Amino acid sequence: MHSITVGSASQDDGNGGTLARNEADAVECGGPAAVDTRDPRSVPSVGDRGAFPRRGNTMFQVGHIRLERPLLLAPMEDVTERPFRRLCRRYGADLVYTEFVNSEGLIRAAARTRAKIAISEDEHPVGIQIYGNRVDSLVEAARVCEAVEPDLIDINFGCPAKKVACKKEGVGAGAGLLREPDLLVEITRAVVRAVSLPVTVKTRLGWDERSIIIEDLARRLEDTGIAALTLHARTRSQGFKGQADWSWIARVKQVVRIPVIGNGDIREPSDAVRMFEETGCEAVMIGRGAMGNPWLFRRTRAVLDGHPDPGPPTLEERVAVYLDLLDTSVAEKGEPRGVFEMRKFLSGYLKEVYGIRMLRNLIMQESTREGVRARIDEFGRWVAGGPAGWEPEPLEPVRER
Ligand SMILES: Cc1cc2nc3c(=O)[nH]c(=O)nc-3n(C[C@H](O)[C@H](O)[C@H](O)COP(=O)(O)O)c2cc1C
Repeated sequence: MHSITVGSASQDDGNGGTLARNEADAVECGGPAAVDTRDPRSVPSVGDRGAFPRRGNTMFQVGHIRLERPLLLAPMEDVTERPFRRLCRRYGADLVYTEFVNSEGLIRAAARTRAKIAISEDEHPVGIQIYGNRVDSLVEAARVCEAVEPDLIDINFGCPAKKVACKKEGVGAGAGLLREPDLLVEITRAVVRAVSLPVTVKTRLGWDERSIIIEDLARRLEDTGIAALTLHARTRSQGFKGQADWSWIARVKQVVRIPVIGNGDIREPSDAVRMFEETGCEAVMIGRGAMGNPWLFRRTRAVLDGHPDPGPPTLEERVAVYLDLLDTSVAEKGEPRGVFEMRKFLSGYLKEVYGIRMLRNLIMQESTREGVRARIDEFGRWVAGGPAGWEPEPLEPVRER
């Protein structure tokens, strides 16, 4: 039997931000003691990173960032907002990214777009990701980003969503530029020249399986002066389907000297170990596997350091993290919006909680932070006491994302 103790409402920490909004639309473009998620000092230390055999030079160096076998939080639209980035940092993500930010919106100073590049002191190292299809707008957007002092600027050439990659007239942005590699390279070179921060690129193998251009493209991108290259080892036409083909990450490693960040299908700590081993990449980036599951960083770090996998978090920790994010969501967006926007994360954070369906139904009726807390408290008491004959319902299958 579980008992859930919900502490007193935590206060707004003043750093604002909320977690994600629209996970549903989100196609790419689209152990250790419990951690006090509010205190960066309580994150387990990176420890000895020498547990697994090294293949060549595994140091990841980008600007002043120097890390060995780091774990990166992938940029994800409506997911990697500030509270989630900070949470992942506290659970051991070594470098985090904002969601992709539209360059035109940035230079128009659109309030919602500018809000996306706000970063907090305790997030560093953090990268801001931008996208667009015009050289001058990306250059100007990069300068706007530079002013908020991230540790790097990343350019997105991987978003497969129609609204981004396909334009009726002219060339698309994101993965659309994989059909215009000359322009892609020109944009990158111009951004590298325009800012003094390190510039990195995140892309895919090519537009489709008949046009895989990544090896040649990686060489050309290296020549522009980028500091690292992230490869999501799928084509644009694959979207998120099928299996990422990591052999391309290994091949790209052979043709460039800059650090290569491997990305695609890390769900378990052992996947990250395998990606480092099989591809020789300098860093591993985790996207969907971390959604509702920031603990993946802590677990993976432990395993990489040769320690036992601490396993999934306790129920109390899951609840505490959910409520913490709820607080920041409400602090930034107010009630009821901040409460509503957290609803879609319930299943992610509480997915292994017995009776989650009932708890979710209760919470769906609430529009205030206190209401949600009261429901969780009530549920916890009920589970602890358990009415006679009560049996927990079976675990819900984890939803495929
Ligand atoms: C909800 C969602 C939003 C995403 N948004 C972005 C984005 O803004 N920029 C980007 O480069 N990739 C984005 N991606 C792609 C991820 O960064 C990553 O490349 C992809 O999910 C593969 O990694 P994974 O298998 O670890 O999830 C998004 C993916 C998801 C699921």
